[in-house]
Amino acid sequence: MIRVEREEAVAIVTIDRQEAMNALDVATLTQLRDRLRELADDDSARVVIVTGAGEKAFVAGADIKYMSGLDVDQAKEWGALGHETGRLLETMPKPTIAAINGFALGGGCELAVACDIRYAASGARLGQPEVNLGIIPGWGGTQRLARLCGLGVAKELIFTGRIVDADEAQRIGLVNAVHDPVLDKAREIGTLLASKSPIALRLMKELANRALGGDHARNLEAEGETFGALFSSEDSKEGLAAFVEKREPKFVGR
Ligand code: HXC
Repeated sequence: MIRVEREEAVAIVTIDRQEAMNALDVATLTQLRDRLRELADDDSARVVIVTGAGEKAFVAGADIKYMSGLDVDQAKEWGALGHETGRLLETMPKPTIAAINGFALGGGCELAVACDIRYAASGARLGQPEVNLGIIPGWGGTQRLARLCGLGVAKELIFTGRIVDADEAQRIGLVNAVHDPVLDKAREIGTLLASKSPIALRLMKELANRALGGDHARNLEAEGETFGALFSSEDSKEGLAAFVEKREPKFVGR
């Protein structure tokens, strides 16, 4: 099951299927997709944190028992459901943070990588072991990992299926920081981001998502246009005025 808790403007989404190391079956992944859709559209949620229940696993991947019975069309549908979920994390108009509390393997690693920011507990283990099952990463692992860690590192990880510990994950850029308890770090940064202008965050995310693809000159043009257009917002006037008046800004999201 998927639990969603609110701590003011920060939503914490917990994947809880501990009997299977939080591996995602159809019911759990569908629920996760549905909750993320709701949070994407809910302005009162300014930041979304995703984590796994218990101490052992973030998500140990897609459910292998379920996948062992799939035919080609069913496997495509299964891939599409994970892609849709990853795209929500990647494109929803607010920051998404993965708090990786244990194993993040296969589809679990892919979901974490679809988030904007990742923190790992010191005992976390990450990797793409699909190759050992005779399959390939199917929820973004052949694409997003290279954007995060570079193509050479990504190829080594997906070809070998090697699992990395938290320190190595940080060294190769797979996670932003290592911290125990990891949820405290995610909460701290989530609360910080929730205090910033949600409009600025939404626009920065949209623009940053273009950084590694498309036409560089056009992307810079889009940044320029967006930068200018933002000056009509109350939040930009408030932020600039607060500095000049030597006070803390109060952003309203308009
Ligand atoms: C189904 C899983 C599972 C998974 C763990 N379990 N991972 N069930 N799918 N991905 C279940 C085990 O079967 C077991 O249940 C229970 O969780 C506890 O796991 P153990 O193996 O007993 O624990 P441990 O020895 O501590 O080992 C933990 C582990 C290992 C290292 C995480 O379980 C493991 O290697 N899991 C598979 C990881 C993996 O290959 N993930 C990638 C999947 S492919 P029972 O009832 O049997 O005791 C993928 C593709 C995504 O994710 C893209 C799809 C399109």
